[in-house]
Amino acid sequence: MSRRRILTLIFFSLLIALSAVWFHTITESIGSLLFSSPRPPKDITMTTTSAAASSDRAVLVIGAGLAGLSAATEALRRNVPVRLLDRAPKPGGNSIKASSGINGAPTRFQKMPEDTTFFSDTVKSAGQSMKMATAAREAQIAALTNQSKSAVEWLVDDQGVDLSVVAQLGGHSNARTHRGSGQTPPGAAIVTAMLKNLKENPQFKLFTDCEVTSLVQDTPGGKVSGVEATLAEEVGEGDAKTKVAKQITFTGPVVFAAGGFGGDTNGLLAKYRPDLAGIPSTNDPRPGAHGILTKVGAKLVDMDKVQIHPTGFVDPANQLSGLKFLAAEVLRGEGGILLYEGKRFVNEMETREFISNVVMKLPQKDSGEARQWDVQLLLDPGACDKAASHVGFYVWKGLVSKKKISDLDETTRQSIQDYAAVVNGERKDEFGRSIFGHWRLKGTNDEDSQEVCVGRVTPIVHFTMGGAVIDETGRVLANEMGEEEKKYIEGLWGAGEITGGLHGDNRLGGSSLLECVVFGRQAGQHAAEYLSAAQ
Ligand code: FAD
Ligand code: SIN
Repeated sequence: MSRRRILTLIFFSLLIALSAVWFHTITESIGSLLFSSPRPPKDITMTTTSAAASSDRAVLVIGAGLAGLSAATEALRRNVPVRLLDRAPKPGGNSIKASSGINGAPTRFQKMPEDTTFFSDTVKSAGQSMKMATAAREAQIAALTNQSKSAVEWLVDDQGVDLSVVAQLGGHSNARTHRGSGQTPPGAAIVTAMLKNLKENPQFKLFTDCEVTSLVQDTPGGKVSGVEATLAEEVGEGDAKTKVAKQITFTGPVVFAAGGFGGDTNGLLAKYRPDLAGIPSTNDPRPGAHGILTKVGAKLVDMDKVQIHPTGFVDPANQLSGLKFLAAEVLRGEGGILLYEGKRFVNEMETREFISNVVMKLPQKDSGEARQWDVQLLLDPGACDKAASHVGFYVWKGLVSKKKISDLDETTRQSIQDYAAVVNGERKDEFGRSIFGHWRLKGTNDEDSQEVCVGRVTPIVHFTMGGAVIDETGRVLANEMGEEEKKYIEGLWGAGEITGGLHGDNRLGGSSLLECVVFGRQAGQHAAEYLSAAQ
């Protein structure tokens, strides 16, 4: 072999090795940031010291997910101090795991003249719930959808997040779910950028390992003027490291943004939906904080409305795990199809509620305590390419495998051909699908050597639509949703998944990140103005 050829070989071997390391590092870091793994319990002793009080008044934001981050950002803009408290060792909540994106319409990133159906799509998806407290629900949906354009633009132009790629998710009549064009999924991109911006402001302080245990009221039933919290502070060095738990009282108006109860399996979830026992979840295991709000008079609505997402990955290496990685809806939006015993059985672009109900009528796969079904998610090469950053991670985790069409069973090959005929416009889809994403297989025999991406999926608990009743500006109400005369709990706002009523029976994909931004910003702004006026 010539010297030149040997050098070329060495060069390419090095390149391949470096690429492998790079790919491993990027997928691992994205994965650890995002996807549904619980944070490990810390091996730390807890001892309790005497109560302490934080001296300064500030806007107190409870929960460092996207709702809390949005509230904190807007409050700081009004030049007041902000304390952001989170019970977890790291900020981000479930928001950091968001994988499909955030809705906005109409935005400059949508490749269409004017998207005017976001409000009506949301009302439709909310279903029968709209019959109760109709005006109040419509007011909330109007606030969400009317402010969706400014929410996306705020994240892009003000916070520096790339949201230039738009996909269509189930139940939407247009493509309006925004994500970035790079490797980092949307939840992680948004949370990381916002945290960085917040930390640059000297008026901002983040307390992690800080669990709020109650709200402080001036008088029973009176205004909220602070929170009681348990702060775990690390002391000592090396092996002698321990955590000391301090009781702290923080003073100021409160924005409560402590997230939903989809991870509170044996608590609120078991209380409101005992029938869901055994269904796995995508949510970090943690107790719901709703009781802290009801203790000061807040009312809850729609607590039995729990979203079952149709596609959580069944990991072949840990099939019965109760915590699952989400097979992001964008995989179907970009062209993926669902198969049961090799055959399509549903319009994959229907709402999550609809698809999950269809799946759960199929025969169950795993018996015993785990309740799982055996559905295949299949992406053709067009969909695989368009969702490449997601797919790369799932393949690396062993949740998705790439297979040649020639290696698939006969029924699945036939289903691909039939579906390709639908996409090509040769026939109508028997399930009513009319949006095909980036599917590109034509169903011809010369495509046998092409690779598709496949993984097993099952329905999972994903989101809790119910929560505290708020008005369109995020004020927490002490009356049932829809009651004419509003009773506000002074000094208390709420935003994000802890609040209820907005999504009714079924949340549309991409609307949770949006509600966090829209109502989080409102709540932060009003709490800051309230603090300034009182000083
Ligand atoms: P979270 O982000 O959950 O934050 C709440 C925070 O409050 C947590 O950090 C928690 O530790 C803290 N907390 C709780 N109790 C206390 C207490 N007592 N004291 C102090 N702190 C407390 N939605 C979309 O719109 N688009 C998507 O693409 C999308 N993808 C998703 C993917 C996955 C895997 C999951 C799980 C969800 C996804 N969602 C998506 C839903 C969305 O991410 C969440 O519903 C939303 O981000 C909730 O935000 P939040 O700020 O209300 O709560
Ligand atoms: C998903 O990626 O499927 C989740 C999107 C969402 O929950 O809005």
